[in-house]
Amino acid sequence: MNTYPLKKRHRLYREHKYLLCLFSTLLQKVATHDFGGLAPIDFIKNDLQQFSDVLHGHAHYEESRIHTLLAQYDSKVAHLADQQHQAHHLSFAEIFERLEVLAQATDREERLDLGYKLYLDLRRVFADMLSHFNYEEQMILPELQTLLSDMKDCVPDKFAIAWPMLKKLLNIDEAEYCEVALAMHTV
Ligand SMILES: [Fe+2]
Ligand SMILES: [Fe+2]
Repeated sequence: MNTYPLKKRHRLYREHKYLLCLFSTLLQKVATHDFGGLAPIDFIKNDLQQFSDVLHGHAHYEESRIHTLLAQYDSKVAHLADQQHQAHHLSFAEIFERLEVLAQATDREERLDLGYKLYLDLRRVFADMLSHFNYEEQMILPELQTLLSDMKDCVPDKFAIAWPMLKKLLNIDEAEYCEVALAMHTV
């Protein structure tokens, strides 16, 4: 267990809160939907696609920016997160396949069975996702702060010293967002 004080961390992973909100809403919809009926389930497919796209973009950002930066310091802490991204990608592909089968099924018992399995699959990915977020914020973030600071006891101001280096890896919008947030000490 790391010992960095949470209140002194910059929250590079703040997007996790929004992902968590989206995912928990989606899971609730699936958990409470009556799959036995023949009502269209397009809204579930649309929400699932939307969340999957956002998640994919989030993972791409982490891999191309944060993980690339860590690799420059020969840190291997992001390798597990890379593997977890792959696993999430495969899990969503399987869930989409199950949803397609469900959309074609007409027998009530079969639809109920498929709907329940869909819920179980999604709930498992949700649990994996929470664990993944925890790994990133509890393992990767402290590593990043340690490597980009010349002090072991990383504090916000010391992290800000590393900002010029991080800034080069961001696009203009991302850099501007972080610049403002850093100035306000809210990231
Ligand atoms: Fe991630
Ligand atoms: Fe993440």
